[in-house]
Amino acid sequence: MAELATRVGTLSLRNPFLLASGIWGESGESLAGAWGAGAGGVITKSIGTSARAGFPNPTVEQYGKWGMLNAMGLPNPGIDEYPREIEVALRAGATVIGSIFGGAAEEFATLARRMAATGVAALELNLSCPHAEGYGTEVGSDPSDVEEIVRAVVEVVRIPVIAKITPNTSDPAALAAAAERGGAAAVSAINTVRGLAIDVRLRRPVLAHGLGGLSGPAIKPVGLACVWQIYERVRIPIIGVGGISTGQDALEYLMAGARAVEVGTAVTQGGIRVFRRLVRQLSASLGELGIPSAERAVGAAHSAGQADLGARSPARAHIAKPA
Ligand code: DHB
Repeated sequence: MAELATRVGTLSLRNPFLLASGIWGESGESLAGAWGAGAGGVITKSIGTSARAGFPNPTVEQYGKWGMLNAMGLPNPGIDEYPREIEVALRAGATVIGSIFGGAAEEFATLARRMAATGVAALELNLSCPHAEGYGTEVGSDPSDVEEIVRAVVEVVRIPVIAKITPNTSDPAALAAAAERGGAAAVSAINTVRGLAIDVRLRRPVLAHGLGGLSGPAIKPVGLACVWQIYERVRIPIIGVGGISTGQDALEYLMAGARAVEVGTAVTQGGIRVFRRLVRQLSASLGELGIPSAERAVGAAHSAGQADLGARSPARAHIAKPA
């Protein structure tokens, strides 16, 4: 059996499959459920300073096997309420990563302190929701903003800080490089791709908010391209996200340079039972290719990786170019 345990910086994961933020994370029980179903770790929904109801319905448009478009509006109970849910997941033994969103560096830092105090293993900064006014992409598209936010958070917590990068920009790798300069322990790439659906009879957008974020198999090539480019640009570890619904999808992300992956839309389609299947499939794919561990596959599709798969330290499986 191929070894699936992986490290993202100092964060140790029993397998590379993380529950993505915003999916199945309403309660501590649901997070614990995903952990019990075999996830390597679970990421909370994105939490802000106060409760938000989110956008009115419709908030989701399905695209069958291709994925879905959504604009939820960052609904969450706020940082005063949510820690009790995290406590439930932690008590179940889950590796929990706390996701936070804010409108500026100071707000992120305040939230980060509060989130870190819950006992989560790491933080993920939502710098990439594609449609919430004042948040996400609006504060995560300029490299200098990303660097400032990450630095402000890193200064106030001792746990690893992961910056979740948007693909809705001309140079996602520049955002990853900015996160690295700010002291991020890792980046996750990508968040959803900005999209729109039109109802021609009603002559208006399908989603109440109008613009939304596209996820699922349709965006896998976009995610892979971003991970690929980021791997060539930075030295910090990468968590791949976007359209992972099989073990082979995950292996593609590992070979593109990711050390772990997040699974979201596949969970909405197949439930948390997908985690066991993903673990089984990745293990089988690695076995078929004679690759002894998930970590040994990291970056293997890059030319430096092909030259000597197996001969190098997987923790530093590439030579980064200067920023
Ligand atoms: C929402 C947030 C996201 O980060 C995303 O990718 C899609 C939707 C939201 O809450 O609307």
